[in-house]
Amino acid sequence: MNQIAYKTTSNFKITGLILTIGMLAFSSCERSSLSELVGEDDEIIDVVTYENTARAILDNACVECHNVNEQTAGVRLDAFEFAFIEADNGRMITRMTSTTNPMPPSGNLPDNLIEDIMDWIDDGILENEN
Ligand code: HEC
Repeated sequence: MNQIAYKTTSNFKITGLILTIGMLAFSSCERSSLSELVGEDDEIIDVVTYENTARAILDNACVECHNVNEQTAGVRLDAFEFAFIEADNGRMITRMTSTTNPMPPSGNLPDNLIEDIMDWIDDGILENEN
C-alpha cells in the first residue's frame, strides 16, 4: 500500500518535470523567434540621436519653413547646431505637442514621432553616438 502510494507520487513528479521542461523549451523557442522578427523589421536603437532619428523627422516636417533662406521666427532646424538650440530651450517639444498652436502649423505629427523627439531630448540631444 505504502509502496503504491510512493510510486504514484513519483510518477506525478516525473510527469510534472517533463511538462515543465517542455514548456520552458517551447517558450524560450517562441521568445527567440520573436526577437529575430523584431530585429529584422525594426532596428533596435539604444541611444536616440540627431543622425539616427531626429534629423529625418525635422527634415520632413519642419525644414521647409525653418532653413537658411527661410528662418521663420528666427528658427532654423536644418542642421544639428540649430536644432539643438530649439530642443534644448524647450520650444521644439512645446510647439510639437501644442494643440492650439502646433508645429508644423498643419497639425501635430503622429505620437510615435513626437515620442522619438522626446527620447532624443531625454537621451541628451546628441548628434550621434560617438
Ligand atoms: C509651414 C511652415 C512651418 C512648418 C512646416 C513648421 N513651422 Fe515652425 N513656425 C512657422 C511659423 C510661421 C512660425 C512663427 C509663428 C508661430 O510661432 O506660430 C513658427 C515658429 C516656430 C517656433 C518658434 C516658437 C516660439 O516660441 O517663438 C518653433 C520652435 C518652431 N516653429 C518649431 C517648428 C518645428 C519643431 C517644426 C516641425 C515639427 C516646425 N516648426 C514646422 C512655420 C512653420
